[in-house]
Amino acid sequence: MPVFEVKTAQRNYSAVVERGILRRVREYIPERAGKLFIVTTRDVWELHGTALEQHLSGAEYKTLFFPGGEANKRLSEMENLADGMLAGGADRSSVVIGFGGGIVTDLAGFAAATFMRGVRVLQIPTTLLAQVDAAVGGKTGVNLAQGKNLIGSFHQPLAVLIDPELLATLPPREYRAGLFEVIKCGIIRDRALFNLLDSCSETLLSFDPGLVLDSIAAAVRIKAEVVSADEREGDLRRILNFGHTVGHAIEAETAYVRFLHGEAVAWGMLAATKLAELLHLLPDADAFAIRRCICRYGPLPPAADLDPARLVARLGSDKKTVQGSVHFVLPTAIGCVRIISGVERELIHQAISLALRP
Ligand SMILES: NC(=O)c1ccc[n+]([C@@H]2O[C@H](COP(=O)([O-])OP(=O)(O)OC[C@H]3O[C@@H](n4cnc5c(N)ncnc54)[C@H](O)[C@@H]3O)[C@@H](O)[C@H]2O)c1
Ligand SMILES: [Zn+2]
Repeated sequence: MPVFEVKTAQRNYSAVVERGILRRVREYIPERAGKLFIVTTRDVWELHGTALEQHLSGAEYKTLFFPGGEANKRLSEMENLADGMLAGGADRSSVVIGFGGGIVTDLAGFAAATFMRGVRVLQIPTTLLAQVDAAVGGKTGVNLAQGKNLIGSFHQPLAVLIDPELLATLPPREYRAGLFEVIKCGIIRDRALFNLLDSCSETLLSFDPGLVLDSIAAAVRIKAEVVSADEREGDLRRILNFGHTVGHAIEAETAYVRFLHGEAVAWGMLAATKLAELLHLLPDADAFAIRRCICRYGPLPPAADLDPARLVARLGSDKKTVQGSVHFVLPTAIGCVRIISGVERELIHQAISLALRP
């Protein structure tokens, strides 16, 4: 059972990767916890609610349904959750359980961060993306009309329970999109993980339980290490944004409906890889291997019709932009990245054009 410790100023906690960990959920609820508030969506609850309920036996809990979807990850839904909690008798000893994909864990985490100035949250992510990324690390938040995740806070959970069995019901496209975040982890910090993903794509895509668990564990280890060294996104945590600079621009340009997050990140990784090549930072063989590996987990929804100039224009408005300067996380070898700023817009344009029109 791989357990990874996340050590932050706010709290130290475990991210546990284990098949069937859901059955041990009670062990992660503090003894003197007040009422539990499970934040989830109807689809996840229909599929996995009974399993969670069975193992909460004896605990007092209330289920709060959130409609799901990026368009609903908004302050108004937080207010609904807070109303639901108050109506259900919540107080400062209550514990929120985020039980769903990244949208649910972000929203439930932020609701917990702010309800009565902060109650505890236990995260049980049910998508691959949330298991390897969103639910680990304490970033929580909601969207504004102007952009994603513009309001939020750091609120570290009691624990993150990562049960790969929950992924059996995930639509294959969601599963593949999550795998791109795992590939990202390999490229930024773990060549062995990358090689595994590159050589075993068929087995992983066929949902081999052992390989799924090992891949999730490797990605969670990296996220836990990076967050422990740098909770608030200084230079180290920024490496997790590999592929996200252009990826976010692509998501925004297509109004968040055409690409799943992981798919946009895959295009973003291809653009960043091309940029690294144009800057002579990355050996040809590594650039080739990155493209080959991403391709093995495709096909991606096409992006050739997107206008590179519009994507470049969007880079400046990303939340990650610091004082107008766009930072790129660029690979210098598989397993190693550097943060580069001040890249000429012309070159960025060229990299995006070449990457999106293979
Ligand atoms: N906080 C962070 O550090 C962080 C990091 C990355 C992403 N995020 C956020 O995560 C969100 C995206 O998360 P996501 O990709 O998980 O999307 P999502 O939460 O919308 O889940 C995708 C879909 O799968 C369904 N689903 C969830 N679990 C399922 C299961 N086990 N079986 C079948 N269907 C299931 C959901 O109801 C939803 O329809 C974005 O809002 C993004 O901003 C946050
Ligand atoms: Zn991401």
